[in-house]
Amino acid sequence: MKAIVIRKHGGPDVLSYEDIADPTPAKGHAMVKINYCAVNHLDIWVRNGLAGKQVPFPHILGCDISGTLVESFGKFKKGDKVVVHPSVPSGVPRVSFSIIGGFSKYRGGYAELVQVPQENIIKKPDWFSDAEAAALNVSYLTAWNMLERSKCKKGNTVLIWGANSGVGSAAILLASALGLRIITVVSNRDSIKTAKKLGAHFVINRNESDVATETLKYTKDQGVDAVIDHVGAKTWPISIEVLKTGGRMIACGTTTGNEANVNIRAFYSKEASIIGAYLGTKTQLISLHKFMQSKKIKPIIDSVYDLKDAKIAQQKMEESSQFGKIVLKVSS
Ligand SMILES: NC(=O)c1ccc[n+]([C@@H]2O[C@H](COP(=O)([O-])OP(=O)(O)OC[C@H]3O[C@@H](n4cnc5c(N)ncnc54)[C@H](OP(=O)(O)O)[C@@H]3O)[C@@H](O)[C@H]2O)c1
Repeated sequence: MKAIVIRKHGGPDVLSYEDIADPTPAKGHAMVKINYCAVNHLDIWVRNGLAGKQVPFPHILGCDISGTLVESFGKFKKGDKVVVHPSVPSGVPRVSFSIIGGFSKYRGGYAELVQVPQENIIKKPDWFSDAEAAALNVSYLTAWNMLERSKCKKGNTVLIWGANSGVGSAAILLASALGLRIITVVSNRDSIKTAKKLGAHFVINRNESDVATETLKYTKDQGVDAVIDHVGAKTWPISIEVLKTGGRMIACGTTTGNEANVNIRAFYSKEASIIGAYLGTKTQLISLHKFMQSKKIKPIIDSVYDLKDAKIAQQKMEESSQFGKIVLKVSS
């Protein structure tokens, strides 16, 4: 099969488009012919390598998969269109799970075929195209989990960082459908209009204004009920500062670093909560599918690249020049 293989950690040049052997069928596993695989920031973390995390080389990236079943099993039939819930047991104490195509022994979706545990297979809802279905299993599922954990109710105000990102654009779309009041952040003027179109009520350009000042001005000094923070070290202090009394910061990412310097007194004196979110369950993915279908919403896709152009797709993500999901087309 054709695949993008990595044999060592490094920059985009370690992505190698090659012919390699098909996966060998294993008991309890399903073989999926991949149609689309979305690109996630995780792919870049794994490609670069992270201290203390290992993958068995040669490895194949890609955790956001939609495809066609190669063989029937249980209630699933050969030829069914399916998506893959990406979590598999981590085997590491106190770590809930690892992610297919991530820091795990499971190879991912930058390939024509993937083999995953049968229990990870979900039928693709007809409401979504194959490309759209590939965009939901990671960013959208995580954003959905974060919004559930935020305990926000209709009319509550939420600050969502990085409107253009996979997680941020998903959170705006879903929060808007849930009836939340949305403040979001961009880094260029062009993204302001797009963020508003998605459902944001107030958009802050972080290169022109101070996010904390603008958020507090907009909320008449009350602060926000919740913050969706996937950015990490650089944004945690601001996220805590703008929370109202009893507010919740939901965190899922460390794009700007893993170690934040935060104001502990500001945090406890407003009885705030910091809540971690890691992907989401298979049940949550199915409820996300149903929610999006019931609200007639589709994921935001920035661009589609051929598998062989995975390097260009990842570079686009590294430059942060996308708005929404970047998807790789493998076959269709
Ligand atoms: N825990 C989980 O299960 C889970 C699941 C999915 C993703 N994640 C993590 O969540 C993060 C986002 O993933 P993604 O795929 O959505 O990434 P992405 O599309 O590459 O987005 C990265 C975002 O970070 C923003 N950003 C970078 N530097 C910033 C700064 N100094 N201040 C404010 N914003 C900044 C960018 O905004 P600009 O363009 O404005 O710079 C962009 O919106 C990643 O760290 C990823 O690993 C975690």
